[in-house]
Amino acid sequence: MSFLAARRRHPAARALLLLLALFVMGALSTLLAPGQQSSADTGTSQQVAEGKALFAVGCGSCHGLNGEGQVTSTIQGPPLAGVGAASVEFQVGSGRMPMAAPAAQAPVHPVRYSEAEIAALAAYVATLGPGPAIPAPEEYNTAGVSQEDIARGGELFRTNCSACHNFEGAGGALPGGKYAPSLKNSSNLHIYEAMVTGPQQMPVFNDDVLRPEDKKAIIAYLNDLHSRPNQGGLDLGGLGPVSEGLWAWIIGIGGLIAFAVWIASKGVKAK
Ligand code: HEC
Ligand code: HEC
Repeated sequence: MSFLAARRRHPAARALLLLLALFVMGALSTLLAPGQQSSADTGTSQQVAEGKALFAVGCGSCHGLNGEGQVTSTIQGPPLAGVGAASVEFQVGSGRMPMAAPAAQAPVHPVRYSEAEIAALAAYVATLGPGPAIPAPEEYNTAGVSQEDIARGGELFRTNCSACHNFEGAGGALPGGKYAPSLKNSSNLHIYEAMVTGPQQMPVFNDDVLRPEDKKAIIAYLNDLHSRPNQGGLDLGGLGPVSEGLWAWIIGIGGLIAFAVWIASKGVKAK
């Protein structure tokens, strides 16, 4: 018995030693890992701290000092937990935020923050709750997109976007003094961010609705649309056949009336 026990203890002890070694290694790596992470994170946590400070000064009056939303100020900023870095980059980078005065919809004004400051504000708001991240350049760069993709982007645009933004992306009015803006000067980044964050009345087009390659096709289509040379003649803002017909009518009939008045006045003088 004792012989057997000794024989059995031996491999058991070895297994125990192995387990102990694994445990020590595991403990060491968990001890080391946060150390490594925090040293790699110092840039980011510094950025978050910088963003928090900028936020307190420029945004807290409406959004609450911790982005919890404000109900006491005259302009009630919504809570920002979960809107994501992409929403901050879109809102601040397009000049909508910080809002200056009450309005049905934040108007676009010159951008008030540097790129680094916007990144810091975005990093801070991203810590408030999970939300869409700022897309990477390869997600919205359209270099090398094929003509077929551009055509597909046009179809996707007409199905998903033209109801508000018009067939040529010229924009249009919405109820309640709101409007869908023209997309002529929107950057690729802002088109992508608008789709993933859905500002104001705009729906969110997540990746189940429009896959990343669909979003890229739409961006490529808009770029193509807005770089197309004018076909000649006045495009009247691309507002479509109704307004163009109305314009022709006003000029045509207006011209005839003016001509008639002119003839009549001649007639009077000849008497
Ligand atoms: C004067 C008040 C005011 C200030 C200052 C202000 N905001 Fe806003 N913000 C609003 C209002 C009101 C809305 C919602 C209206 C809209 O979307 O047009 C809004 C919307 C937003 C949104 C969109 C939220 C969403 O649901 O997607 C973000 C992001 C945002 N603000 C960030 C900021 C940041 C960052 C700053 C500071 C640089 C800032 N705001 C300063 C009033 C303000
Ligand atoms: C229900 C109406 C609606 C639909 C559908 C819609 N949008 Fe919008 N979109 C809006 C509104 C409203 C705004 C302005 C939000 C604001 O000012 O806060 C906007 C803003 C934008 C902007 C920002 C423009 C700028 O200032 O640079 C882009 C880009 C955009 N939309 C693209 C799209 C694309 C692409 C689609 C289709 C996939 C789409 N939108 C579908 C209503 C809509």
